[in-house]
Amino acid sequence: MKILSVVGARPQFVKLAPINKAARAAGVEHVIVHTGQHYDPMLSDVFFEDLGIGTPHVHLGVGSGSHGVQTGAMLSALDVVLDEHRPDWVLVYGDTNSTIAAALSAVKMHIPVAHLEAGLRSFNRRMPEEHNRVMTDHAADLLLAPTQVAVDHLAAEGLAARTRLVGDVMTDVLFDVRKQVEDRPSTPLQELGVERLGYYLATIHRAENTDDAARLGHIVAGLAALDKPVILLAHPRLTAKAAAHGLELDKGALRVHAPLAYPDLIAAALSSAGIVTDSGGLQKEAFLMRVPCTTVRTETEWVETVELGWNRLAGTAEEIAAAVRREPPVPTDATPYGDGHAAERVVEVLLAHAG
Ligand code: UD1
Repeated sequence: MKILSVVGARPQFVKLAPINKAARAAGVEHVIVHTGQHYDPMLSDVFFEDLGIGTPHVHLGVGSGSHGVQTGAMLSALDVVLDEHRPDWVLVYGDTNSTIAAALSAVKMHIPVAHLEAGLRSFNRRMPEEHNRVMTDHAADLLLAPTQVAVDHLAAEGLAARTRLVGDVMTDVLFDVRKQVEDRPSTPLQELGVERLGYYLATIHRAENTDDAARLGHIVAGLAALDKPVILLAHPRLTAKAAAHGLELDKGALRVHAPLAYPDLIAAALSSAGIVTDSGGLQKEAFLMRVPCTTVRTETEWVETVELGWNRLAGTAEEIAAAVRREPPVPTDATPYGDGHAAERVVEVLLAHAG
């Protein structure tokens, strides 16, 4: 059997790592196509290196652009690649423009397509990720859901017959990497002079938070006023938008730092007093590490993290401050995101449904 994975953005490289490992272990041929959506070495190459993925077999070099331009460039480039490889499965990941482009390209070429991390919903139709995931789920032949909540969303949309609950592959990779980093101090942050549990770790990159000057200014003011140093790992979109809005990021409690490689991010998160983020992945990683999280959004796809008390949504500077200062969450041994063996299950399901 031949699986062809299409990835392009940072969170997809993380999810790719355990799939690649499981495919190899099962003796399955695995072709990796990188669309080039993310091209900065710290958003791309370091993940392939640190997570032992190797080099992508095909790199489309698409780069940045408006949604239509970027997605269209991927679509036209993918036709040729899929035609050449004719895989048994095209595997697409998450909710980025690379996901929808690959799903659309495959379904139109009558190549079976499976969607990993199917069924997540924010029900916020202003998010580009929500369009991407809804359209991908309806185009795909097989929907690999990470959670029961995701399974239920797919059933509500009439997609139950194509759905399989496999667990969350981000749990697989997090458990592996946590083991590797647990005993080391968070070296990349030592240069900033912060102590274990003496800082918050923050990331902000979503269009809803960065693109409007007033909104971003409000979030930055909220972070700058927190009671401990806030290490802000700045995604290029944040840096670019802050500059365009004439907004200073390095002020008050805020200390700006370049994005971290995955093992460094996990080490930095484990040592932090809390996480403030608008990233989907980091909210869940925080829960898996049992680090309190504050999510700067009006809703989340990972509702289990909120229900279990480890994540709180915060829209305004005041809400961010209150959420960060809240009482420590109640310990839990709940495992809504699976057992760390989701990728093996994905490969089994793909094998069982091939050709
Ligand atoms: C994309 C995903 C988002 C995901 C995020 C993870 C979509 C619609 N969004 O958002 O769901 O959470 O990746 O990081 O696919 N840029 C660089 N270097 C890069 C990549 C981007 O400087 O390597 C800058 C460019 O100015 C670019 C901007 O960031 O225009 C946005 O990049 P893009 O890939 O379009 O979306 P992300 O915000 O990264």
